[in-house]
Amino acid sequence: MQDEIKIPRHIAFIMDGNGRWAKKRMLPRKLGHREGVKALRRMVDECEKAGIEMVSFYAFSTENWTRPQEEIDALFKMVGEFAEKNLSEYVRRGFRIMFMGDITKLPADTVAALKKILDQAKDNKGMIVNIALNYGGRDEILRAVNRILDSGVREIDMQTLSDCMYTGGLPDPDVIVRSSGEKRLSNFMLWQAAYAELVFVDDLWPDFDSAIFEKILREYSQRDRRYGNVRRIN
Ligand code: IPE
Ligand code: IPE
Ligand code: MG
Repeated sequence: MQDEIKIPRHIAFIMDGNGRWAKKRMLPRKLGHREGVKALRRMVDECEKAGIEMVSFYAFSTENWTRPQEEIDALFKMVGEFAEKNLSEYVRRGFRIMFMGDITKLPADTVAALKKILDQAKDNKGMIVNIALNYGGRDEILRAVNRILDSGVREIDMQTLSDCMYTGGLPDPDVIVRSSGEKRLSNFMLWQAAYAELVFVDDLWPDFDSAIFEKILREYSQRDRRYGNVRRIN
């Protein structure tokens, strides 16, 4: 059916364009990130309403450390505030919270705030909210391979490697959405992206709202997912 809306199990967002959003308004980049957090919150609400099982957000890459220190500091201050205000609300709403990436390298007070959330959310059973912080797809694959080597295994199969990713045991993203018109993955979920539908949206991340979300679901629903077969599988 042409108009049937399919709900992905797992949707992932590469949140891009905060800086350009601010620049257009002659504001500091930091304010773009602040609006970006509001957009993330809108998307979490939309995903919950749609009955999505897992939503991932790319918030800080292993390459983002090359940005000016002032911007990095502002970003992690915001992550700490987000944990205290919003993630704790998500815990009350029953969401499962996870962080993908090496969070031990973040500022100590940010790490403490994130660990507190993980502890509070540990028994939750609801939608999975996964936030990628100090995350890189290549870094994740290397880390997985090293974990396997440490365990003494000599031959690695697909399942073992999959299980050692941050997302081990969880569904791969059905759709990866990138905002701001850039058409690349920038080191995001390289392993998990194998059969993801890619949706590139011209709107800047702080502008993401329910209308854009709906447009994404519509676009995803029209894709023919064949997984190498000759006919649509889903
Ligand atoms: C995305 O927005 C947020 C992060 C990568 C932390 P950008 O900060 O990359 O915004 P642009 O690409 O400069 O507009
Ligand atoms: C990708 O955005 C990383 C995140 C959204 C966290 P970037 O703005 O860092 O990516 P590039 O530099 O344009 O590839
Ligand atoms: Mg960018």
